[in-house]
Amino acid sequence: MVADLAVQADGLVKSFGRVRAVDGVSLEVPRGAVYGMLGPNGAGKTTTVRLLTTLLRPDSGVALIDGIDVATDPASVRARIGLTGQYAAVEERLTPRENLALIGRLYQLEKRHISERSTELLARFDLEHAADRVVKEFSGGMRRRLDIAMSLIARPSVLFLDEPTTGLDPRSRLAMWELIEELGDDGTTVLLTTQYLDEADRLAERIVVIDTGVVIANGTADELKDQIGGDRLSVTIARRENVTRAIEALAPLCSGDVSVDAVGLRLSASIRSGDRVVPKAIRALDDAGVDVLDVEVRRPTLDDVFLQLTGHSADGEPDEEHGSGGVAS
Ligand SMILES: Nc1ncnc2c1ncn2[C@@H]1O[C@H](COP(=O)(O)OP(=O)(O)OP(=O)(O)O)[C@@H](O)[C@H]1O
Ligand SMILES: [Mg+2]
Repeated sequence: MVADLAVQADGLVKSFGRVRAVDGVSLEVPRGAVYGMLGPNGAGKTTTVRLLTTLLRPDSGVALIDGIDVATDPASVRARIGLTGQYAAVEERLTPRENLALIGRLYQLEKRHISERSTELLARFDLEHAADRVVKEFSGGMRRRLDIAMSLIARPSVLFLDEPTTGLDPRSRLAMWELIEELGDDGTTVLLTTQYLDEADRLAERIVVIDTGVVIANGTADELKDQIGGDRLSVTIARRENVTRAIEALAPLCSGDVSVDAVGLRLSASIRSGDRVVPKAIRALDDAGVDVLDVEVRRPTLDDVFLQLTGHSADGEPDEEHGSGGVAS
C-alpha cells in the first residue's frame, strides 16, 4: 500500500440479487484531500461508501483505510473513520448535546472529553443556540449539521459524507460547503458523494465519476473538462421553429454534434478553438435567417463532461437525440 493514501479501493464488486450495484470500483484518495464521487441516482455511491466503511462486505475486491484492510480488521477501520449517511442518523427525542454524548460513549471517549468536544463542535456547526432543544424541532439543515458534528466527535482521520447537501435550501447548502472546505483546510480527508456537478466542482480536488456501478472518469475538475476537448459554443435563439436551421448553420463550425436543451432554444457544441468562432457563428445564423439572442464561447462544465461520457445528464434524465439535459443543481 502507498503510505500517503487515506482510502484505497481496488476492484470492488457488490451485487444485490441481479443488480450489480458496484461493478469493479477502484479509487485512491490521497491523505488530506477532499475527494468527490459524482453520479446520478442509483449509480452505486451509497453502496461504495458502505463497502468502504465496513457496513457491507464486498463480493470481491479490496478496500484499505489508512492501509488497514476493511475485510480483515473492520474494528480498526471503524475507529479511524466518521460517516454521515445519506439519511440523518440523529436521535429525534434528544438534544444535540445528548446526541453527541451518545456517540461519544459509543466511541468509549471519556466524559470530560465528550463534553469539551461537544461544546467545540456545537460552536463550529452553529448549533450553540439550539444545543438544548430536541432535534425533532430542527430544520433539515440543522439536522445535517448535527449529523456531521456527530461523525467528527472522535476526530476521524477519514470522513465519509454521503450526499451532504441533498435536500438543503441554497443558503444551507452554501453554509455546508463552507464547513466542508474548513474540514479540508484542517487536513481531514473527506470523501463526499454528490449528484451535483457544481458541488463536486467547487469542493473536490479530485473527482471520480460513477454510473451504473462503474467508474467512468477520474481526475481533477479541469482534467475532466479537458477530456471534452476544446471549448463549448453556446447559442440561444429567439424562436424554436428555427432550431433545425440553426443546427445546420452551426454544424460546420463545430467538432461534435450540436445538442439542444429541453426548451429547444439553447444549442451547444464542442469547438476546436475559441477564436473567431463567435463572429462566424453570428454570420452563419444570420445568413440562415435565424434570430439570435446570445452567442458565447465557454469552458466546458462538468455537465458537458457527464453528457459526453454517458449520453445522459447527471440528473439521470435520458438524453434525447440532440437533446441535452439541464445542470443538476
Ligand atoms: N440493500 C439493497 N438491496 C437491493 N438493491 C440495492 C440495495 N442497495 C442498493 N441497491 C441497488 O443498487 C444500486 C445502487 O444503489 P446506491 O444506493 O448505491 O446508489 P446511489 O448512487 O447511492 O443512489 P442515490 O443517489 O439515489 O442515493 C441501485 O440500483 C439500488 O437499487
Ligand atoms: Mg445514495
